[in-house]
This record gives sequence, structure tokens and C-alpha cells, in this order.
Amino acid sequence: SQRTLVILKPDAVRRNLIGEIIGRIERKAGWRISALELRELSREVLEQHYGEHVGKPFYEPLVEFMSSGPVVVLAVEGERVVEGVRALAGPTDPIAAGPGSIRGDFGTIVRENLIHASDSEESAEREFKLFFPGAE
Ligand code: GTP
Ligand code: MG
Repeated sequence: SQRTLVILKPDAVRRNLIGEIIGRIERKAGWRISALELRELSREVLEQHYGEHVGKPFYEPLVEFMSSGPVVVLAVEGERVVEGVRALAGPTDPIAAGPGSIRGDFGTIVRENLIHASDSEESAEREFKLFFPGAE
């Protein structure tokens, strides 16, 4: 089975949506949360996490936002969980995301789109090591 790295972004924590979002992930058959922590992210960690976006116009405001308050970082394991959590999250732009998805149900602003989920198994392993160094 697979593992993915999920971040509930500062807007999700501020708006008290942690339980709502984790509940949707937890209710998927056979998936389980294998690591979970509330923490603040440093610019250094964010630069590694969002390395592919360094230099893009939205990069600086994205890092500002992602370091504006605590986030919840979690690892989820299970069958097709990488693709699966991306499907639960919906497209990057919450207005384009359909109802029933996390971003579609709760978001309006592209930057403040509530949740990050790894986009491939390779990203998931890199991100897991970045956010949970020393674990397993
Ligand atoms: P993540 O799971 O957070 O990585 O989202 P994603 O994979 O759906 O999107 P992507 O990796 O392309 O972009 C990372 C984050 O940057 C997005 O989730 C948005 O918060 C933000 N972002 C991406 N594209 C834009 C954009 O065109 N404008 C703005 N303002 N923000 C963007
Ligand atoms: Mg991404």
C-alpha cells in the first residue's frame, strides 16, 4: 500500500476545520493515520517543500501564508492513498473544485485552499522525510 503526506494549512486550523477534514480522510475504507502533529513551519522547511515553485509570482505570498500560523502535518497510509487524498482535496482553485471535495466545499481563495497532499509516491517519500525526519 502507499503513504502520503498531508498538511492542513493555516486557514483550516484557524477556521476549526481540522476534525471535518481529518474525518473525511479517516472514513475512507482501509486508510489509517500513521503520524500527526500540530506545528508551525519554518521558511527553510517551506522552501524545501515548495522548491518547485521558488521564483514563481505566488511563491512569496504562499510561504508567508503557510508560516502565518500552526498547521497539522500528517501521514496517511493505505490503498491508492496518494491519488485518493488528492481526489478528496479537489483541484488547486477552490472555485473550480466541485462540491463534495474539501476545497470545493470550504474554499474560495487559491492560496487559502485548506489542504496539501503529495502529488506522487516520489513526492510523498521526499515530503515524509522532510516533515518527519528520524521516523521509521
Ligand atoms: P499543494 O498540495 O499545496 O501543493 O497544492 P497543489 O499541488 O494543488 O498546487 P501547486 O503545488 O501547484 O501549488 C502549491 C500551492 O500554491 C497551491 O495549493 C496554492 O495554495 C498556491 N498556488 C498555486 N498556484 C497558484 C496561483 O496561480 N496563484 C496563487 N495565488 N496561488 C497559487
Ligand atoms: Mg503541489
